[in-house]
Amino acid sequence: MSKPGGQQTDERGGASAEEVERAWTDPKLANVLYHDSEASTYDEKWSISYDERCISYARDRFAAVAGTDGWPYAKALELGCGTGFFLLNLKQAGVLDDAHVTDLSPGMVQAAIRNGTALGMDVAGRVADAEAIPYDDASFDLVVGHAVLHHIPDVELALREVLRVLRPGGRFVFAGEPSTVGDWYARRLGRLTWRLTTTVTHLPQLRERWSRPEEELAESSRAAALESVVDIHTFDPRELAATALRAGAVDVHTTTEELTAALFGWPVRTFEAAVNPARLGWGWAMFAYRSWQRLSAIDRVLGKALPQKLFYNVLLTGTRPG
Ligand SMILES: C[S@@+](CC[C@H](N)C(=O)[O-])C[C@H]1O[C@@H](n2cnc3c(N)ncnc32)[C@H](O)[C@@H]1O
Repeated sequence: MSKPGGQQTDERGGASAEEVERAWTDPKLANVLYHDSEASTYDEKWSISYDERCISYARDRFAAVAGTDGWPYAKALELGCGTGFFLLNLKQAGVLDDAHVTDLSPGMVQAAIRNGTALGMDVAGRVADAEAIPYDDASFDLVVGHAVLHHIPDVELALREVLRVLRPGGRFVFAGEPSTVGDWYARRLGRLTWRLTTTVTHLPQLRERWSRPEEELAESSRAAALESVVDIHTFDPRELAATALRAGAVDVHTTTEELTAALFGWPVRTFEAAVNPARLGWGWAMFAYRSWQRLSAIDRVLGKALPQKLFYNVLLTGTRPG
């Protein structure tokens, strides 16, 4: 996942100008400022919900890489939980019971707990760096993360920490990580779509109804610039599996998803960010979602024939030796 942040954090998130300046060379600080500033609008921006659409998305991602054995896991931890998208929906899907959320961003931990409470769940939360997880050895049966590994400076260290907090035989599942090839085409398509859309929506005949206010476009550009600091890695699936093995995991397995769906999805998301949202109603949202579903089905067939590394999303699982 990649999305457009920047200096607006000193206006919205309360960070000092000095902190914002330091964030350009400190990826962890950048992650905190960026994600704190995004926490209150994150679900809307990424169309995150806690209904059947996202429950089945989370469940299917998990099952695609790790199968359904062991459900429900008794005690689960999420790293980089954001607003709780992955863990809360996995809990609703019956994948796990006792839910613990963590994130480097205090704003995100609060958002995840708030979302859990709204769903009637008892969710425990802590601010935590994935490279130094503040839980005892062998505390969890399952550790999950979605779109978090690519933000962590030392992925092998984080995976060693994951194995430390897992019980012997416990499983980890990471999903939503950008592949190196996928990130290459997604960014180029995104930039091209942004340029085309903002040019067309600034034509005099369209400007008033279709363009986004200038300050929102400027905020998106600042955000896109900070992304280059928070998005640290892209992954070759085989190299990511090798990193998990070096960290001490066994039963390591990767899978990948979304080729045509990503070629369609990234321009669509960029287009949505570039135009006046009032022009895109429910009909557009359903068109985008149904198209993504159909293309994902095609990608599942293509996945049997094409190399893993061509697909956008990388998923990784493994276990702590029993
Ligand atoms: C792209 S967001 C994904 C959020 C959520 N998992 C989702 O899929 O919607 C990445 C999250 O990872 C968090 N993060 C970044 N670096 C981290 C680290 N070193 N340890 C823990 N969380 C981190 C960020 O604060 C952010 O909330």
